[in-house]
Amino acid sequence: MKLVLCTRNPGKVAELAALLHPTFHVIGPDEVGVVEELPETGDTLEANAEQKARWVHDRCGLPCIADDSGLEVDALGGAPGVHSAHYAGEARDPGANMRKLLRALEGHGDRTARFRTVIAFVEDGRAQLFHGVVKGRILSAPRGTAGFGYDPLFAPEGEERSFAEMTTEKKNRISHRARAMAALLEHVRTR
Ligand code: IMP
Repeated sequence: MKLVLCTRNPGKVAELAALLHPTFHVIGPDEVGVVEELPETGDTLEANAEQKARWVHDRCGLPCIADDSGLEVDALGGAPGVHSAHYAGEARDPGANMRKLLRALEGHGDRTARFRTVIAFVEDGRAQLFHGVVKGRILSAPRGTAGFGYDPLFAPEGEERSFAEMTTEKKNRISHRARAMAALLEHVRTR
C-alpha cells in the first residue's frame, strides 16, 4: 500500500519509515507534487496532525499520515506542548529550545515530563487519529547525539540514558511515536 508521509523533518522520516516498513511503500509530499510548507496552525496536536495529512490528501488523493508531537513538562503546566518546535522562537532551533527549557526548570524539583504523539491517517477523505505517550524526566544537561529535537534532555521512565544516547531501534521500541504508530498499524491490520 502506497502511503504519503506528510513531513519533511528528517528525524521523523527516519523513525516513521523504519516503523512502517515493510507494510507500506512510503513516499514524501514532494513525490506527489506537494512542495510547499505544510500548514500547522491548530491549537492542539490533534488539529495539526489532521491539518497536515488532509492538506496533502486533498492534493494527491492517496492515503496520508502526519505526526504532530510535543513535549509536556509537568512543572511548566504542560509547556512547551503544541509549541515544542518553536519554543525559543520561529527558527525551530533544537539547541535554543533545550537551553530555554533548562532555564525554565531552574529551581524546580519536579522534572517529570512526557512526549505525546498524535498520528492522523487520512484515507478516502476520512481522518482517524492515533495516540502515543512516553513518560520520563528532563535531565539537568543534554546527553547524546542521536535522534532530534529534545532527545538529549529526555530520559524515558526506567532508563538512565537519554533518547539521544539510544539507537533508533531502541527508541523505536518505546517512544511516543512508536506507540501511536503501533495503534495505526493495528487498525490497518484489523479493518
Ligand atoms: P512538530 O510535531 O513537527 O510540530 O514538532 C514537534 C517538536 O517537538 C519537534 O520539532 C521537536 O522539537 C519536538 N519533538 C517531537 N518529537 C520528538 C522526539 O521524538 N524527540 C525529541 N523531540 C521531539
